[in-house]
Amino acid sequence: MSINQKTMRALVKEVNGPEGLVYRTDIPVPEPKDDEVLLKIRCSAICGTDMHILEWDAWSQKRIHAPVILGHETCGTVVAVGKNVTDRKIGDRVSCESHIQCNDCWFCSNGMPHICSNVKLFGVSRDGAFAEYATIRSDCTFLLDDDISDEAACMFEPMGAGVHGVEAAEVEGKTVLVSGCGPIGLTAIAAAKTFGAKFVIACDLIDEKLEVAKEMGADYVFNSGRDDLPAEAKKLTGGVGLDAAIDITGAGPALNTALKCLRAAGRLVCVGLPTKPITFPDMADDLIYREIQLTGISGRLVWKTWEDFAKVMKGPYYKLERVIGGKYAMSDYQSALDAIRGGAVGKMLVYPDR
Ligand SMILES: NC(=O)c1ccc[n+]([C@@H]2O[C@H](COP(=O)([O-])OP(=O)(O)OC[C@H]3O[C@@H](n4cnc5c(N)ncnc54)[C@H](O)[C@@H]3O)[C@@H](O)[C@H]2O)c1
Ligand SMILES: [Zn+2]
Ligand SMILES: [Zn+2]
Repeated sequence: MSINQKTMRALVKEVNGPEGLVYRTDIPVPEPKDDEVLLKIRCSAICGTDMHILEWDAWSQKRIHAPVILGHETCGTVVAVGKNVTDRKIGDRVSCESHIQCNDCWFCSNGMPHICSNVKLFGVSRDGAFAEYATIRSDCTFLLDDDISDEAACMFEPMGAGVHGVEAAEVEGKTVLVSGCGPIGLTAIAAAKTFGAKFVIACDLIDEKLEVAKEMGADYVFNSGRDDLPAEAKKLTGGVGLDAAIDITGAGPALNTALKCLRAAGRLVCVGLPTKPITFPDMADDLIYREIQLTGISGRLVWKTWEDFAKVMKGPYYKLERVIGGKYAMSDYQSALDAIRGGAVGKMLVYPDR
């Protein structure tokens, strides 16, 4: 290993149970295995998943085995490589695919590593990136162009599902609805515009979010609580309906409204994760008789989504500053968590060196 430092600062989830996140300064710097790189972490973003882990929800109870260093949305520089690594070198700046595929199962062998059946999760089922240094297999790193900032690099993983949703909707030349203008929805709006949608309608329940949606390139915005979205969609398409809808709310009412906005043989792409069961009361008329295509989205395509997202970041629509909520020293992580719990909008970044 080419660095002399033996111990490092890290945020460690120390107990199997709620909370228990501790800022430690005495964690051994990890050694990269033969197929891994050692990263000097530049910054990392806090994910909703990290918050769920601290709440100790059912998902976390199955996956977390404390102690573990959290953090999976990151940007780092390669400072050492294992002996079998040929695709990365010292000095490379990278972001990381948090879904560590097995490269062996049926899905990995058939071009779908993003839905690997033996996936391991960076910063969840093994140590992650809320630390000065982290190791990860080199084939889970994405090489960054110089014109992608460290902060932008941290957005690939969390927002990538929105870009993947746009890829699945095949938006070029199409009329598109994006439901939900949270950070992932906003990213999807910018992606749909970048990839040549004829026009993009965005909807949300909160007017302020619709204003940001316009900045991200939405051609039309509607408040789902007030406006008759299916009627507006028909008006804008000469009575036909929209080609594609991308749901990034996970909310039943939004999904049902989106179905009614679509034309026959249109496509509904589901990115948002429901927090309760969803019903389709008019499924025969809304979906079956109209041959609607229904598609789920899991994470990001490796590496197509990443390459596409890089184009979105460099394009005219994506406004990074509208999806970043705050920047904190890692030692001040509690302030970042307080901001999130207080309802602050946007991604919070932590810097291990500050
Ligand atoms: N499929 C995946 O791989 C994947 C990956 C990451 C996140 N997600 C999911 O994507 C979703 C969006 O993430 P986010 O961080 O942008 O969340 P967010 O909560 O910030 O955004 C959701 C938005 O939907 C709006 N909304 C809620 N109900 C609505 C309705 N009926 N009509 C219109 N708008 C409505 C909310 O006001 C909010 O602005 C979440 O459900 C998240 O769990 C999915
Ligand atoms: Zn995440
Ligand atoms: Zn696999």
